[in-house]
Amino acid sequence: MKIKNICCIGAGYVGGPTMAVIAKQCPNIKVTVVDINEARIAAWNDENLDNLPVFEPGLDAIVAEARGRNLFFSTEVDKAIDEAEMIFISVNTPTKTYGKGKGMAADLKYIELCARQIARVSKQDKIIVEKSTLPVRTASAIKDILDNTGNDVAFQILSNPEFLAEGTAVEDLLSPDRVLIGGDTNPEGLKAIEALADVYANWVPQDRILRTNVWSSELSKLTANAFLAQRVSSINAMSEICEKTGADVNEVSKAIGMDSRIGAKFLKSSVGFGGSCFQKDILNLVYIAKSYGLNEVADYWEQVILMNEHQKQRFSDNIVSTLYNTVSGKKIAFLGWAFKKDTNDTRESAAIKIADNLLNEQAEITVFDPKVVEERIYADLEYLNTRSNEENRNLLKVENDPYKTCENAHAIAILTEWDEFKTYDWKQIFNKMQKPAFVFDGRGLLDKETLEDIGFVYYKIGTGQ
Ligand code: NAI
Repeated sequence: MKIKNICCIGAGYVGGPTMAVIAKQCPNIKVTVVDINEARIAAWNDENLDNLPVFEPGLDAIVAEARGRNLFFSTEVDKAIDEAEMIFISVNTPTKTYGKGKGMAADLKYIELCARQIARVSKQDKIIVEKSTLPVRTASAIKDILDNTGNDVAFQILSNPEFLAEGTAVEDLLSPDRVLIGGDTNPEGLKAIEALADVYANWVPQDRILRTNVWSSELSKLTANAFLAQRVSSINAMSEICEKTGADVNEVSKAIGMDSRIGAKFLKSSVGFGGSCFQKDILNLVYIAKSYGLNEVADYWEQVILMNEHQKQRFSDNIVSTLYNTVSGKKIAFLGWAFKKDTNDTRESAAIKIADNLLNEQAEITVFDPKVVEERIYADLEYLNTRSNEENRNLLKVENDPYKTCENAHAIAILTEWDEFKTYDWKQIFNKMQKPAFVFDGRGLLDKETLEDIGFVYYKIGTGQ
């Protein structure tokens, strides 16, 4: 079966870039990305490519090439479902905030709504592709809903988790390490798997397209995120030992990363991982393990999250204790708010937690981030519900000039590893700060010797003082 018409439900950080790349690489397939969020769709359709809702290096050029040709963004969900032979579900699957599994399980209400809508609208057979990250065995729930609608349409459910990393999404999509497709092992299931494999085969070599059963595919995505996060928590655990013993975590990372069994990637110590996925997916894994009574497995993975929380807490505690045990009324400049460089995504960013801790200590914070807009920053704080919106806005200001951000500050906290921070005139920044001038480098971004020569008191995560 040759696919000619694809619909994707959910125009977020995954749906948008993924579909843009499919449209670019498959000019003969019409790709329609739909969302219920009208503002988001309007932004995807904005003439000015600087206003796209997702910032990713290279994404604007791809949208410019394909949009209007075979890539469309729309709020007409029913119409797009009806027309497509293949439907990707790429809606959000956040951690549940209520009821059973609160704070751990994945909230599948958006997925279920999609399934019900597909069931209601569909008049011909369709292949449904789970692109969202889902707990293992979700496909059977989706199938249950689709098979019980009575309008006699045959559905195949595939799991095709997305492995892109924000900040390098376009590169990752154009040359993925692998594409994973899980489906039923009966003849109809295998046919559906091949239909999706054919789409990817337009640009991905066959040996990188893995076919598995649907449960392996669902579980592989949770496993990948758990392993990646576990590396960060492991090196962060070592960073604390380094600080106490005089070892340097960067030297330790390099030394162990050269062991080909370990590998060099994902060994950078930091103020803690963020992003919408790692925490949510590990909590989900922990919940699944507990629900099968696998308590040791659950505890093992939960520790990855606890370590990450600890890393953020000790970073802000260190700022308070270094600034003579009080930051009340002191200006602290934040460089960076995004959870990593080259994205405007702030979900679960370490900066949010650090800000919250310091605001509890009555610090006055000023934030600069090259890509994150002011309203996003306030929304992140408001979501925590720690204090009134008015207090947040009084205590925390957002600047669009990094030098002004740092003016008169007692300390600077570097919370995102944006490359441009390295190029700043640090002497000029130093001259306009309160003395002693502190830098707390939560990303190990700057050069210790240069900063100390200028006169800063410089703390780099994972290196002794
Ligand atoms: P997102 O929150 O950026 O986008 C989801 C979109 O779905 C929103 O725009 C929302 O309005 C829309 N939506 C929700 N219900 C809908 C409905 N019934 N009809 C139409 N639109 C609807 O989420 P993001 O980051 O794109 O993540 C989507 C999924 O992909 C999640 O399951 C996530 O775990 C997974 N994932 C995310 C990655 C990332 O780097 N952000 C990487 C790999 C997987």
